[in-house]
Amino acid sequence: MPNTPMLAMNRPSHATRVLAVLGSSSAAVQAILQEETQLSLEIHDANQCASLPRQAEHQPDIVLLEPPTKDQDRLAAWLRELSVQSPTTPVLVIGELLSVSAVQALLALPASNVMPLPFTRSALLSLISSTMRSNTGSKTNTARCWSFMSAVGGAGATTLAIESAYQLQTMGVSTSNVALIDLNFIDGACAACLDVPANLRLGEVADNPDRIDEALIDAFASPHASGFDVLASTRNPVGYQGINPQAIGRLLDVCCDIYDHVVIDISRWMQDWTLDVAAGSDALVVVSELTVPALHAARDLVMNIETEMPGSAENLHLVLNRMAKRVFGHSISMTEAQKALGRDAAGSISSDWDGAAQAVNYGLPVGQASPKSRIAKDVRALIRTLESKMVDHGAPTSVQVAS
Ligand SMILES: Nc1ncnc2c1ncn2[C@@H]1O[C@H](COP(=O)(O)OP(=O)(O)OP(=O)(O)O)[C@@H](O)[C@H]1O
Ligand SMILES: [Mg+2]
Repeated sequence: MPNTPMLAMNRPSHATRVLAVLGSSSAAVQAILQEETQLSLEIHDANQCASLPRQAEHQPDIVLLEPPTKDQDRLAAWLRELSVQSPTTPVLVIGELLSVSAVQALLALPASNVMPLPFTRSALLSLISSTMRSNTGSKTNTARCWSFMSAVGGAGATTLAIESAYQLQTMGVSTSNVALIDLNFIDGACAACLDVPANLRLGEVADNPDRIDEALIDAFASPHASGFDVLASTRNPVGYQGINPQAIGRLLDVCCDIYDHVVIDISRWMQDWTLDVAAGSDALVVVSELTVPALHAARDLVMNIETEMPGSAENLHLVLNRMAKRVFGHSISMTEAQKALGRDAAGSISSDWDGAAQAVNYGLPVGQASPKSRIAKDVRALIRTLESKMVDHGAPTSVQVAS
C-alpha cells in the first residue's frame, strides 16, 4: 500500500521534483536536499513501501531509492515497477552491495546511478544532477563538452579554452560548429580576449530556465570572426548570485543540442553547479603551470574532484602550461612535474609569451594571430590525445580530426 509521505515540500513550479523512498539515509538526504530551494522533495519511508508511492501530483524528475536493510528484493521490485510505469525517469540508488537482480533491474533503466555510503552533500547533489543530465544526453545530442579549469590564477585555462575552441572549429575534416562558454561570472576574460560583446545574461532567466531555448542562445551568443560563438557575461563582482544549477544545466543542454563542441572556461572556485559541469564534460582539463605551488594546487584540486566525483578519473586530465623550451637551471622538467603531481599529464603546452600577447592584443586565438606558434601546435596535439582517450572510453565521435 502506498503510504503518506514523511516530508513533502512545496516549491516553485519549475523546481526539480525529487521522489525519495529511503531507509537509513533518509535523515541525511532530507537535511541536504531541504536546503536546495530549486528542489521539491517528497520523502517516504522505505519500510512502508512494498510498492512505489504514486500519490505525487506530478511525475518526479528523479527518484531516489534505498531499500530497508537487507531487503534487496524490494529494491529490485521497485526498479521493475519503474521500468514499466515510468522507464525514462532517472533513478539514483543509495547504498552498495546490490544483489544481482537489483543490478539487472537497474541496468534495464536508461538513466540510473548508484550513490555509495557514506556520501557528502556535494557528492549527492552532483550525482543527482549528472544522473538527470545523462537522461537528457541519451535522448538527443552527441556534442562533445571540453572544460578548462586553472589550478591557480593565471595558469592558462582561458588561453587554452579559446585556442581549443579555435582548433576544434578548424582542424576537423569539415568545419565544426563550436561554442565557447565562459562560466566565470565575476571576471571571465573570454569576451575581452576575443574582443566580442559579452551578451550572456543568464541571471535574467535563471528562475525560469525553461525559457532557455535555441532562439535565446542565439541572442546570448557573440560570433567571433574565426567562426565559433562566444557566450560570456559582463564582469560583475557578485556575478554568481542568481545563477543556479538548473539554469547552468539547461544552458549546457541546449548548447549541446546546437553545437558539435562546447568548450567551457570554468573557475576552480566551486559553485554548487561546478561538479555537475565537470561530471557532464567529456574532458575536464585541469591546467597547471610549472611551479611547485601550482603543481601542489593542481594535485590537490584533482584529488578533491576525484573524491567528490567518484569515477571521474577517466575524464579528468592534467595539462602543464608554459613549458620552457629548454630546461634551464631553475625550470621544472615534465618528469619532475609528473612526480610532484603523482600522475601523468595528458600533455604540455609550450611557453610563447609573444604569441600569447599578440593574440589577446588583436582579439584573436593564438592559432589565428600567429599560426606558427608552438601553443597552437601543442593544443592540436592535446585535442588529438583527448579525442583518442574519449574514443577508448566509448564517448560518441562527433568530429573527424584530420591527422
Ligand atoms: N603557453 C603560454 N605561453 C605564454 N603565455 C601564456 C601561455 N598561456 C597563457 N599565457 C599567458 O598567461 C596569462 C594568463 O593566462 P590566462 O588568462 O589564460 O590564465 P587563466 O588561468 O585563465 O587566468 P585567470 O586565473 O585570471 O582566469 C595571459 O597573459 C596569457 O596570455
Ligand atoms: Mg581565466
